[in-house]
Amino acid sequence: MSSAAEPTVRPATRTDANAVFRLLRDFATTYRPDRARYEAVTFPEVLRAAAEHRAEFLVAERGTQVVGYAYAARMPTLFAGGTVLELLELAVDAPLRGHGTGSRLVREVQDRARRAGDTEVTVPTRRAVDFYRRLDFTETATFLKWPVPGAGM
Ligand SMILES: CC(C)(COP(=O)(O)OP(=O)(O)OC[C@H]1O[C@@H](n2cnc3c(N)ncnc32)[C@H](O)[C@@H]1OP(=O)(O)O)[C@@H](O)C(=O)NCCC(=O)NCCS
Repeated sequence: MSSAAEPTVRPATRTDANAVFRLLRDFATTYRPDRARYEAVTFPEVLRAAAEHRAEFLVAERGTQVVGYAYAARMPTLFAGGTVLELLELAVDAPLRGHGTGSRLVREVQDRARRAGDTEVTVPTRRAVDFYRRLDFTETATFLKWPVPGAGM
């Protein structure tokens, strides 16, 4: 399903803190986001990374309502001969899914990668493999992780 009216996508700002936190609570499955830490540390850090072009941090709006966000970290690499943009977080308000918002956010991330001269956009995901395949992503590697003992929530 898709809707005629495209959402607007723009860089996130400080005023989006509440809206993004609401979306983040739904997005995070392994970790439980802590509001105080989010406000004091993680949200400002991600905004700063975006301001310094080390990340892309975008929100999608319908009217004046923020209905989705995307956060991608730009990493210098040796193997790719340049930067890789890794899409780490993508979430759309559950009742408003299926109207093109997620695709619009990913397309904007792809456009920004092209303009920044990144070599590729990567995305670790389990829940949305087919969604990304439709947006020209292909499977390439198995993603492993080692949670640092005692870290995280
Ligand atoms: C994945 C997500 C961002 C997609 O947002 P959305 O606004 O619903 O996406 P779109 O409307 O642009 O979807 C485009 C198409 O992909 C399909 N699609 C959406 N989510 C999908 C998923 N998880 N798996 C497979 N297909 C999916 C849609 O049904 C739609 O198909 P249609 O055009 O035939 O109806 C949203 O479902 C979400 O927030 N999910 C929870 C968090 C998550 O899984 N994030 C991604 C992992 S990093």
